[in-house]
Amino acid sequence: SVSASLEPLQPIFPRPASATSPPPEPPALASLISHLKLQPHIEGGYFAETDRDTLRIPNPFLAASTPATATTSKSIAALRGDPDFDPEQENATRSASTSIFYLLTPGTPLGAWHRNRGRTVHTLHWGKGRYVIIHADEVGKDGKARVETFVVGKDVLNGERLQWIVEGGKFKSSFLLPDDGEGETSGGLLISETVIPGFEYSDHDFLRGEKLKELVTPEQAKELGWMLRN
Ligand code: GUN
Repeated sequence: SVSASLEPLQPIFPRPASATSPPPEPPALASLISHLKLQPHIEGGYFAETDRDTLRIPNPFLAASTPATATTSKSIAALRGDPDFDPEQENATRSASTSIFYLLTPGTPLGAWHRNRGRTVHTLHWGKGRYVIIHADEVGKDGKARVETFVVGKDVLNGERLQWIVEGGKFKSSFLLPDDGEGETSGGLLISETVIPGFEYSDHDFLRGEKLKELVTPEQAKELGWMLRN
């Protein structure tokens, strides 16, 4: 019919990812997300910052920041139109530490490939998941980085981890696993993460497909590519 043909099959202006409604979750997880005031994380999953140390320490990564970064923060200052804003001052210190809750769910079961400059201490609350780490700073004779994977969960007698540390500069991804024989994921995977020094977006970046191919073998790139952020 004519009226049916006027209905677009697809939205004419696709909405940006940030504007899409969060996926449906099992009721218990929906309640948890609202009770803990969790927000969608850009890596996938949900998070809430639970602590930010008021102690400021000298930024230990300053030596690592490139001139390009400085230029970018200068133009951000210009965009802010704030003559007193000094990006070098702003970047001079970090919070001593920050902590978050981080939750993977059936609706958003993947924490996509990324790295932080700070080291991160992870602690399990409940659920089960697989972590994959690319040790970008440990390159073998073949020029490829060491890849490590482990399961986090409460079955410590079978090698699952309750606590795990990811040093700064390593690429990390994680995904939700069923935590019983019946494929049950509806409790999600809830952990705490403490980043030292504290988290800043300027210390965070996503792994891109081209970089993944440089870091690992073609077989590994094929196996790990699904965990890249789209
Ligand atoms: N804001 C966005 N992502 C994060 C994160 O991973 N940790 C903290 N503390 N804040 C964030």
